[in-house]
Amino acid sequence: MADFGDRNAGVLIQVKALTDARTQSGAMRDDTSPAGQPPQKNPYDMIGGEAGVRRLVDRFYDIMDSEPEATAIRAMHAADLSPMRQRLFEFMSGWLGGPRLYNRCVMSAHQPFAIGTAERDQWLKCMQRALTDIDADPAVRKLLEQPLFSMADAVRNR
Ligand code: HEM
Repeated sequence: MADFGDRNAGVLIQVKALTDARTQSGAMRDDTSPAGQPPQKNPYDMIGGEAGVRRLVDRFYDIMDSEPEATAIRAMHAADLSPMRQRLFEFMSGWLGGPRLYNRCVMSAHQPFAIGTAERDQWLKCMQRALTDIDADPAVRKLLEQPLFSMADAVRNR
């Protein structure tokens, strides 16, 4: 099975479509871009680079840790979430188009856990809420919706 690390190509293609659309509409122009060039922001930049991705991941696990609807998936994780905060940060960094810091196979990491549609949807709910809570640009939230779903669905093993 393919590693998620290769899937950011899909996100980046969609980002190009988004930046092209922005250029055509003239909206959200990045004045620092050379004249006539579309802004070259990828999802990593749009979320706020390293600090933004850390904020996202921290918020994600805070929600998982406190949201009654996420109790089942929280129970699958170790009591101490600190190592997961670091690993998900490393994974998301590369997946969003930033530095590739994660070198494991994220698929294999999920094999020991029974993940069905309910668990997938709980995970996604935590992530969507985290994106909202960190005030991520609605454009990047929309852009990531489908790729996040595809990735979470790929983790499903029952
Ligand atoms: C977009 C989908 C997902 C991504 C990107 C993702 C990412 C990750 C990463 C990077 C790790 C650390 C693995 C390691 O290096 O050891 C991890 C662990 C884990 N993930 Fe996910 N995950 C996703 C979906 C899910 C879903 C749907 C569940 C449902 C329960 C889940 C449950 C877990 C569990 C239980 C662990 C291990 C936690 C521990 O050892 O304490 N993940 N995930």
